[in-house]
Amino acid sequence: MKRRSLIKAIPLATLALAMGEIGQAASPVSEKSSKKKLVLTVAHITDVHIRNFENAPEKFKRYLRDIKKLKIDFFLNGGDSIHAADYDNIKRESVVEQWSVWDHCLQEISDYEVHSCIGNHDTWWAAPSKEDEMYGKNYVVKRLKIPNRYYSFSKKGWHFIVLDGNNKNITLDQEQYSWLEKELEQLPANTPVLLMSHYPILTVTNTWEGGQHGDHKELKQLFYKHKDKVKVCLSGHQHLLDRAWYNDVQYFCNGAMSGFWWDKGDAKSAQPYYYQQTPPGYAILKLYDDGTLENEYISTI
Ligand SMILES: [Fe+2]
Ligand SMILES: [Fe+2]
Repeated sequence: MKRRSLIKAIPLATLALAMGEIGQAASPVSEKSSKKKLVLTVAHITDVHIRNFENAPEKFKRYLRDIKKLKIDFFLNGGDSIHAADYDNIKRESVVEQWSVWDHCLQEISDYEVHSCIGNHDTWWAAPSKEDEMYGKNYVVKRLKIPNRYYSFSKKGWHFIVLDGNNKNITLDQEQYSWLEKELEQLPANTPVLLMSHYPILTVTNTWEGGQHGDHKELKQLFYKHKDKVKVCLSGHQHLLDRAWYNDVQYFCNGAMSGFWWDKGDAKSAQPYYYQQTPPGYAILKLYDDGTLENEYISTI
């Protein structure tokens, strides 16, 4: 009996040894990933386009409550927060009303930080004069309660940069570009950076849907110069879900909270409320202390 046990044990011992060797061989890679620590869980909502239309506010509030259950640390809002203030025929009353619906819905998350970006539909250009307090981007900055049309902040070792691409040919103006250069320069080496813009800096869907940054070549160069820092770029605007990867930077275009602007869609919609093949939804990001991340898009229907 003893002998049989010994014979049986040999293959097991050999197997254990083999496993140990495999485990050791794999350890340099797995060791790093197993030690990484989740430092932030962030919700990225974009293109909410809120308005009193059907039951859009009720739906939006429900989605915000759902997001809160996911134990997030804060919200990133990618712009086009209100339905549309930018068209020539938009009257003051409509702009005021749209922002009041936004404020009403945001009450659901009044206990959370919301870091927003300006979208192309947020700005009222048809004000009677440029001196009107509701004209242009300054009013949007005020309504979104953000420090400037572009800005940055840090949390738990990550640096967040929010851009304003609402300029000629969807670019950063010179002032903003110089600021961005300095921002990246002055950060300590290996500080992970997340950038959020309304328009995608690099996107797959630009092949058939316009909207990509006009200065993507310059930005690609700048990101490469700081490749130890720039990890991820988030955007919206396309209402389409896509991801691109270039020079180790991940670009997530995270669909739209409003899908087909809260409407049922058109002939190109794969399903009701979809924009083309993208369902309405939002993304949840997990950010780790080693600069890695996960981005998951959650469909609301
Ligand atoms: Fe939009
Ligand atoms: Fe947009």
